[in-house]
Amino acid sequence: MNPENFKMIATTFKGLEKVLHREVAQLGGQKPKALIRAVEFYGDKGFLYKANLKLSTAVRILKPIAHLRNIKTVASLYNKIYDIPWEKFFHSRKRIFFNVSGELNSIPHTHFISQKVKDAIADRFRNRFGNRPDVDKTHPQVVVNLHLFKDQIAVSLDASGSPLFKRGYREQTGYAPLNEVMAAGLIRLARWNGDTHLIDPMTGSGTLPIEGALQAADIPPNIFREEFAFMHWHDFDPDLYRTIRKSLLDRIKEPSDLIKIIGYDNNPEMIKIARKNAENAGVDAFVELETKDFFDTRKIPGPVTLLFNPPYDKRLSVKNKETFYNKIVAHLNEKFPLSKVWLLTPEPLNRFFGKKPMASFKLTNGKIPVFFAGYETDI
Ligand SMILES: C[S@@+](CC[C@H](N)C(=O)[O-])C[C@H]1O[C@@H](n2cnc3c(N)ncnc32)[C@H](O)[C@@H]1O
Repeated sequence: MNPENFKMIATTFKGLEKVLHREVAQLGGQKPKALIRAVEFYGDKGFLYKANLKLSTAVRILKPIAHLRNIKTVASLYNKIYDIPWEKFFHSRKRIFFNVSGELNSIPHTHFISQKVKDAIADRFRNRFGNRPDVDKTHPQVVVNLHLFKDQIAVSLDASGSPLFKRGYREQTGYAPLNEVMAAGLIRLARWNGDTHLIDPMTGSGTLPIEGALQAADIPPNIFREEFAFMHWHDFDPDLYRTIRKSLLDRIKEPSDLIKIIGYDNNPEMIKIARKNAENAGVDAFVELETKDFFDTRKIPGPVTLLFNPPYDKRLSVKNKETFYNKIVAHLNEKFPLSKVWLLTPEPLNRFFGKKPMASFKLTNGKIPVFFAGYETDI
């Protein structure tokens, strides 16, 4: 392995570990290993930049810098954090923030722990340079990630800063929009690879067709972001970053004009928002967005891929769930024969389709447990 390689951890949502693992391996990450809600891999600094720009199903990319053991008292917590050579990584004047997950056996209060960590880092900088980083929750430049477990702390620098689902293309959303990373993950779980039309007939703010178009054209989902936390590290190499970014831009391709990516919604306001978002993402040329009621769509002889999240009981008022799902499935069978339909719903729809799904996954959408399942429509 390249001696400049180091370990990185890409975090994701529950259920997307395998698709993220596949993405990391395809991009060239070394020794990828799926963990719980994360994938570990090795690569060099250029790969760290590439991972941030290109991985569509990663929420953040972490660079582990220390693994602390035997943290049984507040003093040991303070001392071990103080001993990390923070000044090697970033300047004392950077604005800093902390993300803490997990728990310590001996010190139960997460807020208190991050307070102590902040004190130890601030004291180290002050003792050496006479000044210290300011804590800034809303616009931090450096983000320190602490994962607590029993009497151990995995300390990492968060290379992304604001999470990678903040792609920057979505100015406005509707009710219950899908998270961008979740949308990218659903398309990958469905294994749509640009070989059929992709239709989201209840598209809301257009997240699914936009992420589909980004994948079909090989556009790095975070190419428009202007800031990542790694840009505030001492070792940031702007020339290398520009080279990596350009090499990804050079790989963008025109998707086949035989394949359509379509989003419908019966609310014209949503279509207006979706169009603006598609324009911001640079994919308006290959996404068709139209105001249309799903139940008025004309027959499309298959095979096509439909992928959507209909309004939920809890989040949107669907008066009669049974009738609604029955109507959706009947319309799918009648108008989209010989096709694949992937649905994200709070419960599996096997009884409405009268068959088992081709594949099904348990996921969490926001905080709601959901099923993502793919069915074949009737001939
Ligand atoms: C849960 S939201 C979809 C969110 C979307 N995936 C996003 O990321 O913004 C469901 C959408 O279905 C639309 N909708 C509900 N009934 C519809 C129908 N009969 N035909 C078309 N769209 C419909 C709603 O207007 C709403 O925007």
